[in-house]
Amino acid sequence: MTPPALRPYLPADAPVLAAILCASIDELTAEDYTEDQRAAWMSIADDEAEFAKRLASRLTLVATMGGAPVGFAALEGTELIDLLYVFPSAAGQGVGTLLCDALEKLAAARGGKKLTVDSSDTAEPFFKKRGYIPQSRNTRVVADQWLGLTTLTKELAP
Ligand SMILES: CC(C)(COP(=O)(O)OP(=O)(O)OC[C@H]1O[C@@H](n2cnc3c(N)ncnc32)[C@H](O)[C@@H]1OP(=O)(O)O)[C@@H](O)C(=O)NCCC(=O)NCCS
Repeated sequence: MTPPALRPYLPADAPVLAAILCASIDELTAEDYTEDQRAAWMSIADDEAEFAKRLASRLTLVATMGGAPVGFAALEGTELIDLLYVFPSAAGQGVGTLLCDALEKLAAARGGKKLTVDSSDTAEPFFKKRGYIPQSRNTRVVADQWLGLTTLTKELAP
């Protein structure tokens, strides 16, 4: 099995990252969110230009296996994980860990004191395992659907 590697986001990645986001939501979160909720959530990547702008304006890292993108994560400012998605067939192989380790190091190196994430119910055990502590239960309206989320934070080592 090829170990995952990381590289910075390039503008040409936007379509494949949109496809990863959609597949990840559709297949990995089906136990926690209804079909309508997943469709609404996936719609955040519908407008490719807007999605590309969002990726470019964050510190976005792309995880690859055998050179092909299999996941991505975006740090907004120094204290917020904005996006973290892994392609279903690559899940459970350490890709999310690699991405999150890198975001935590980069955030700390840039002076971030703690990281916050509005996590899906699906990803919550992943973040808890990494030492993130639940702070509050929230809902977010996306394309007329209410999505349940949990805000978690983790203090970063200086
Ligand atoms: C959550 C997610 C990013 C994890 O990525 P991943 O590459 O599968 O994670 P890893 O392989 O690095 O797993 C690290 C650990 O977390 C655990 N873990 C990962 N996803 C988990 C889940 N859904 N439930 C329970 N544990 C999970 C793994 O078992 C592993 O534990 P181990 O170290 O004891 O083996 C991925 O499942 C995903 O994209 N989910 C759907 C999209 C989503 O909800 N994104 C978050 C938006 S806030």
